[in-house]
Amino acid sequence: MIYLNGKFMPIEEACVPVLDRGFIFGDGVYEVIPAYSRKLFRLESHLHRLQHSLDSIRLTNPYNNSQWHDLLEKIVVGNDNEDQYIYLHVTRGVAKRDHAFPPNSTPTVFIMSNPLLAPSQDLLTNGCSAITAIDNRWIRCDIKSISLLPNVLLRQMAIDANASETILIRDGFLTEGSASSIFIVRDNVLLAPPKSHLMLPGITYDVVLELATANHIPYRIREIHEEELQSADEIMLTSSTREIMAVTRLNDNPVGTGRPGKLCQRLQQLYHHYKTTTMRGDTPLS
Ligand code: PDD
Repeated sequence: MIYLNGKFMPIEEACVPVLDRGFIFGDGVYEVIPAYSRKLFRLESHLHRLQHSLDSIRLTNPYNNSQWHDLLEKIVVGNDNEDQYIYLHVTRGVAKRDHAFPPNSTPTVFIMSNPLLAPSQDLLTNGCSAITAIDNRWIRCDIKSISLLPNVLLRQMAIDANASETILIRDGFLTEGSASSIFIVRDNVLLAPPKSHLMLPGITYDVVLELATANHIPYRIREIHEEELQSADEIMLTSSTREIMAVTRLNDNPVGTGRPGKLCQRLQQLYHHYKTTTMRGDTPLS
């Protein structure tokens, strides 16, 4: 069951007019929210980031938080899986094609659910591979925009190289992955690039740093040079759909020992415990 512009329906019945500005211009924003045991995880943080994205593209939020809660909960209840990830999408609506904002269009709102699969045993045991590439996206990567063509092309580079993520470098420094946040470990210290307009403020990124604080894991938030990435003891990627994953090969070279590192495994355990005990997890740990 999906939601489209005021109605719940099977996805096969959902249609959007071709003049929707999402279709014509990629003029819209989105969120991806995990739900564990049918409880939305960090919902308030996702709605806060949605508001930031909408404000940044000058689109009025079509719903208040309590309306979002109702809609999202109906979708979670109306779909089969206990663990789901909810995709929500707001565009500037349908209008005659013109780059400038239409004077009075109604936003299009679409919400769907997909099963959220736990990371496979193979991924937990062996980690995944990544490549690096120049971050050639625009400079408002803090907006969760549906215009994802650069991210699509960058992710495909990884797939073509038999890897699962492309880690992006701008002016010699790590920004993030094509669809994930990136952390590294050097000398037992977790390093995270600082949030800026050059990366998406990841919700899982925040959870990882809160878990580190609460469990006395040393960390620093600072610029990370490409060379520090290449010679890191551990690399991990995080996102709402992939949680925390060890990157054990980078550009075909082993990362550290070539096996998931101790800090990554510890954070995976802490994340698992946190998501299964707090479920909704709206309350930050620190
Ligand atoms: N993407 N950076 C980018 C570019 C992303 O697309 C994502 C997530 C993240 C991690 O953010 P979070 O921890 O809030 O999921 C970082 C989602 C999952 C997607 O587009 O499917």
